Amino acid sequence: MSEKRLIRVLKGEALDVPPVWLMRQAGRYLPEYRATRADAGSFLDLCYRPDLAEEVTLQPIRRYGFDAAILFADILLVPQGLGADVWFVEGEGPRLSQIESKDDVTGLKPVDAIDEVLSPIYETVGRLSKSLPEDVTLIGFAGAPWTVATYMIAGRGTPDQAPARRMMYKDPDLFGALIDRITDATIHYLDQQILAGAEVVKIFDSWAGVLAPEAFEAYAVKPVARIVSALKAKHPNVPIIGFPKGAGIAYAGFADATNVDAMAVDTMTSLSGLRRLVGDELPLQGNLDPAMLIDGGPAMQDAIRSRVAEMTGTPFIFNLGHGITPNVPPDHVKLLVETIKGQA
Ligand code: CP3
Repeated sequence: MSEKRLIRVLKGEALDVPPVWLMRQAGRYLPEYRATRADAGSFLDLCYRPDLAEEVTLQPIRRYGFDAAILFADILLVPQGLGADVWFVEGEGPRLSQIESKDDVTGLKPVDAIDEVLSPIYETVGRLSKSLPEDVTLIGFAGAPWTVATYMIAGRGTPDQAPARRMMYKDPDLFGALIDRITDATIHYLDQQILAGAEVVKIFDSWAGVLAPEAFEAYAVKPVARIVSALKAKHPNVPIIGFPKGAGIAYAGFADATNVDAMAVDTMTSLSGLRRLVGDELPLQGNLDPAMLIDGGPAMQDAIRSRVAEMTGTPFIFNLGHGITPNVPPDHVKLLVETIKGQA
C-alpha cells in the first residue's frame, strides 16, 4: 500500500489537498461523544476503558473522514501514572494533588511502575491500529514536561501558570527533578504507544508561551529534545510533531533545537511568516482560530482557503491553532473539511 497522506507530508511532501485533522476532534461538541461519555460515567473512566476510548476516537473519523485519528486520552494521565491524584470537576477542569516539596517528587512512582495505571491506554492504541480505516493515520500523544509540571505544581489550571514559574526560580533543584521525572515517564509512555501501533506522536506544550527565553530553552526545548532523541534511537521512522504553543519568535529555532519532524502552529503565529523563517522543507501544521468554527460560514471558508494558499507547494497539514470548543456546531466541521477538499 502507498503511504498514508499524513505520513507523506510528515516526510516532507507537499500535497495539493493538505491532509486534515483537528485538535479535540473527539469531544463534547459531538452528541455521540456525550452519549458514550455518559455511558462511561466520567471523563477519566472514558480514558481508561479501551473499548469506549476506541469508540470516541473513531466517531469523528466516521463523520468527517479526517486523515488522522488522535488517541483519546489526556496529558494528565502521566501524572496519575506517577502516583498523583487526578480528578476533573464538572464545568471547571482538572484537579491534582500538588507537588510542593522534595519528598513529593521522591515519593512519585518509579517510571517502570506507571504502566500499572497506563496499560489500558496502550490497549486502546492497539485496538485502534486494527480498527481504523487503512488510509487514516493513528497519532499518539503526551504533554510536554513543562506543561504537565505546571498542572502538577498548581494542582489545577491557572491563567498564567505562576505557581510553576515561581517554583522554577525559587527552587530550581526541586523543579528540575520534577521535570526530569516527567521526561523519563513521557519517554516510556510514548515508546509504549509506538510499540502498540501509534504511527506518529505529538508532544503538547500548551503553556510554552508563558516562559521567559532562558526558561523556554531550559524547560520547553531541552526536555523535548531529550524525548525526541530517546524515541528516535528506538523508532527512527516514527515522525514526531512538536507543539510549543505561544512560543512566538522561538518557533523559528524550535525544530532545529529539538529535532522534531514537524511543528504544530498556534493561532497567533503567521504560517507564511514562519515558513519564511524555517524554509520550505519543514512540515507545518495549523492554525485556524478555533473561534471561527463557532459561526462557520464564508468567513471561516475564506480563512481556510487563505491558509491553504499560503502553504501551497510546501509540506502542510491543516488543523486548528488549538482545540475545538464544546459550542461548535458539528455541521461547521463538515463545511471545514469540504472546503479544504474543494467540495464546498
Ligand atoms: O485532541 C484530542 O481529541 C485527543 C484527546 C485530548 C484530550 N486532551 C481530551 C480531553 C488531548 C490531546 C488532550 C490534551 C490536553 N489535555 C492538553 C493539551 C492541549 C490543550 O488543549 O492545550 C491539556 C492542557 C489537557 C488538560 C485538560 N484536559 C484540561 C485543562 C481539561 C479541561 C478543559 C475542558 O475542555 O474541559 C481537560 C479535559 C479534556 N481532555 C476533555 C477532552 C475531550 C473534556 C472532558 C469532558 O468530556 O468533559
